[in-house]
Amino acid sequence: MDGNGRWAEAQGKPRVVGHRAGVKSVREVVRLCREAGVGSLTLFAFSSENWNRPPREVALLMRLFITVLRREVKLLKKNNVRLRVIGDTQAFEPKLQQRILEAEAETADCDGLTLNVAANYGGRWDIVQATRQVALQLQQGELSVDQIDESMLQRFMCLSEQPEMDLLIRTGGEERISNFLLWQCAYSELFFSEALWPDFADAAFAEALDAYASRQRRFGKTGAQVADVTVAQ
Ligand code: IPE
Ligand code: MG
Repeated sequence: MDGNGRWAEAQGKPRVVGHRAGVKSVREVVRLCREAGVGSLTLFAFSSENWNRPPREVALLMRLFITVLRREVKLLKKNNVRLRVIGDTQAFEPKLQQRILEAEAETADCDGLTLNVAANYGGRWDIVQATRQVALQLQQGELSVDQIDESMLQRFMCLSEQPEMDLLIRTGGEERISNFLLWQCAYSELFFSEALWPDFADAAFAEALDAYASRQRRFGKTGAQVADVTVAQ
């Protein structure tokens, strides 16, 4: 979700105005995903590197998270949306941690759309935390080195219980991953939208889905193999 700050600055307004407008886009995109039958949506709200922003902006974002969590949880529940937060949430102030736990618990039985919010998340952090869990099991003798393979590590990565990420959208015109779901995006289709996040709505979402629909996902196979299932495997 990139472009909040630029959106506000273009109107001569403080960046926080852009972050608030960004919350509206979140609500909109959650609705669009529900309508499109998307099972799992992950939003990158705050990266491990976002702590390096000016302290005032970080504090404003934290306050916004707390307010939004409290305000939106009823609507999420009503819309059958399950909320999950991924990332190193222990770095957040206790009040925010508490809100996160409450919001997750309140929506735990919802099974329409799973909304994952990546907060203090980093793709490299995710790989490290999974590795630590594997190492711990190794140390405790519950695992041997030759049991470590991709599917074993996968089990410890964030979102492992959810389907593979089909489409990764980055808004705001930048064309990079910026430490998002590094492990998980191995075979995701990438879509870069020029739209700043607060402007990302119906039209931009439809454009992303259309682009996705036109891609041929080969997963290492040849185009002919994928196009014609009768071709000898
Ligand atoms: C993304 O918008 C939102 C967060 C990181 C919370 P930015 O704040 O990165 O907006 P730009 O890139 O400065 O326009
Ligand atoms: Mg940005």
